[in-house]
Amino acid sequence: MSAQLYDTLQTKSIYLPTQAQIQDVRPLTELEKLFTIALPDGLSLNHKPGQFVQVSILGMGEAPISISSSPSRSNGTLEVCIRRVGDLTNAIHRLEPGDPIGLRGPFGHGFPVERMHGKDILFAPGGLGLAPLRSLINQVLDERTNFGRVIILYGARNPAELLFTDELQEWDERQDVELHVAVDHADENWSGNTGVITTLFPKIQVTAPNTVAITCGPPVMYRFVLMELLGLGIRDGNIWLSLERRMKCGVGKCGHCQINNVYVCQEGPSFSYAQIKRLEEAL
Ligand SMILES: Cc1cc2nc3c(=O)[nH]c(=O)nc-3n(C[C@H](O)[C@H](O)[C@H](O)COP(=O)(O)OP(=O)(O)OC[C@H]3O[C@@H](n4cnc5c(N)ncnc54)[C@H](O)[C@@H]3O)c2cc1C
Ligand code: FES
Repeated sequence: MSAQLYDTLQTKSIYLPTQAQIQDVRPLTELEKLFTIALPDGLSLNHKPGQFVQVSILGMGEAPISISSSPSRSNGTLEVCIRRVGDLTNAIHRLEPGDPIGLRGPFGHGFPVERMHGKDILFAPGGLGLAPLRSLINQVLDERTNFGRVIILYGARNPAELLFTDELQEWDERQDVELHVAVDHADENWSGNTGVITTLFPKIQVTAPNTVAITCGPPVMYRFVLMELLGLGIRDGNIWLSLERRMKCGVGKCGHCQINNVYVCQEGPSFSYAQIKRLEEAL
């Protein structure tokens, strides 16, 4: 397991947040902002793409949030992309550079990046699902020679909800990345693909035995993406998902995230399809 903030601080409590500081805030859409958080001097997260942190404001509460920055670009900071949906996330959206913010983690299992070496990688994020997958996409791009083809299929509800548009443009301009983006509902300025993410699959051909696929998004989206991936012939063990469940402790104590005998906070949130296909509630 990677070094955790409480280990580094030598506190005994896994429930005690470390105080970090907002370094930068960048609005991405009307609902989502990207926060760069500076860790206290000398600390680094040592996270894997797919892991999450518990982000808190004293007196307000705490929420699990995926780490959106790549470990290859950490440098004493981490990035989280947060959608405002309720009390805590709205309060986080009001924070400014210099404000304190609590962090615990990193928690959960990330994606097994080393096992993906030599493989073609197919990313299929939907909506906010790009936030966790961006961490892995940028690691793969920073270590590009370790991987085969890189294919990214990204779907959002409309053009205004596309996240990380500057990076989408960079990826699109690269010769070694195959990017296809679709929106469910176009506007008058949109000249790209229109339709749900699954309409992008006919645009690609893959060598199934050598392909690893990673998807993340709302359940209604990843259920259909799973069918496409299986239809392409990609093996159960080579399809990875990141599951979002209600979480409290993040460390396997409270049971909030439990599906049957699986604690998503500890054994996930990244799972292969082979691991979870018998967990009906997850799918
Ligand atoms: C492993 C994991 C990773 C996550 N990563 C991110 C991320 O990178 N960025 C991000 O913006 N959010 C992420 N979330 C969701 C985030 O934790 C919730 O949006 C947050 O807890 C809401 O807190 P709140 O107090 O603002 O809203 P609340 O007042 O608790 O809830 C407001 C609304 O959001 C809904 N909601 C609350 N929690 C969740 C949840 N876990 N999933 C879906 N809907 C929820 C509630 O039903 C309600 O409708 C992640 C969740 C998990 C479990
Ligand atoms: S969130 Fe408490 S057991 Fe998983």
